[in-house]
Amino acid sequence: MIKPLRKAVLPVAGLGTRFLPATKAIAKEMLPVVDKPLIQYSIEEARAAGIDQFCLITGRGKTAIVEHFDVAYELEAILRQRDKKAELAALRDSQLPPGSIVTVRQQEPMGLGHAVWCARAFIADEPFAVMLPDDLVLSDTPCMKQLADAHAETGGCVVAVTEVPREQTNRYGILDIGADDGRLVEVRGLVEKPKPEVAPSNLSIIGRYVLLPELMEPLARLERGAGNEVQLTDAMARLIGRVPFHGLRYEGRRFDCGDRLGFLEAQIAFGLRRPELAPALRGFLKSYLAESAVPA
Ligand code: UTP
Repeated sequence: MIKPLRKAVLPVAGLGTRFLPATKAIAKEMLPVVDKPLIQYSIEEARAAGIDQFCLITGRGKTAIVEHFDVAYELEAILRQRDKKAELAALRDSQLPPGSIVTVRQQEPMGLGHAVWCARAFIADEPFAVMLPDDLVLSDTPCMKQLADAHAETGGCVVAVTEVPREQTNRYGILDIGADDGRLVEVRGLVEKPKPEVAPSNLSIIGRYVLLPELMEPLARLERGAGNEVQLTDAMARLIGRVPFHGLRYEGRRFDCGDRLGFLEAQIAFGLRRPELAPALRGFLKSYLAESAVPA
């Protein structure tokens, strides 16, 4: 019997060096896209997939993330007094039910694999999602819901995949693939950041995974891989052949918000999805780009 997917692990212990100095005193995951911090997009996406238990893998300087999902009594009282209904609703939307979020400290950012291993007690013997809040996916069906449905079909590990230009394979986890029905691809192998000339394909993993608890066994070896980090990809590769393992070509568009350009693109794309902002934003973009003062 396939166990239902109820748990999500969100690693947020990274240093966010690409966003310095913005991330000197605040966590990268608290940077907003339009008006919501990155982390809230992930939590909402997970909840839309039926996930109701969350484990944040945190480090120093990340306490604001936990505060963000708490009750803000004073602020609520003031907004109620001033009859600010829309603002109150926005505040309530960012609250999680009692007992649904736990945090675990990673202490030292030794890699994504190590971060996920830190959640071993939370995961116990259930399938679990891993979501990297830096990755935002704009889609009609939330990306994690698409993965959860694929997991319910296959009962195994499912990772969200997208095609990347061949010259960029050295930035991502890349799949070696078997059978491919255009949506689900059988995973034969996984390589972390291969050089383009040796990459087995140009299908890359994005920050959305459904994994099985069996992963904890290879992870527990804490073997160092690319960049001398404990890589999630290496531990996942050890499960291939032991459990069903697929890549899902999800419907939607991914924005890498851990990167400055991806983050800027996300502001525009998500802004254009807001009916109250879209017309003015579109108008601004058109006229601004037409101005001769904009450097080429
Ligand atoms: P990144 O590779 O984006 O690293 O991690 P980073 O430290 O966040 O950012 P840069 O590269 O220095 O700018 C991908 C995800 O894995 C988490 C990060 O928080 C991020 O969500 N992570 C990474 C951990 O939780 N622990 C680690 O040891 C490494």
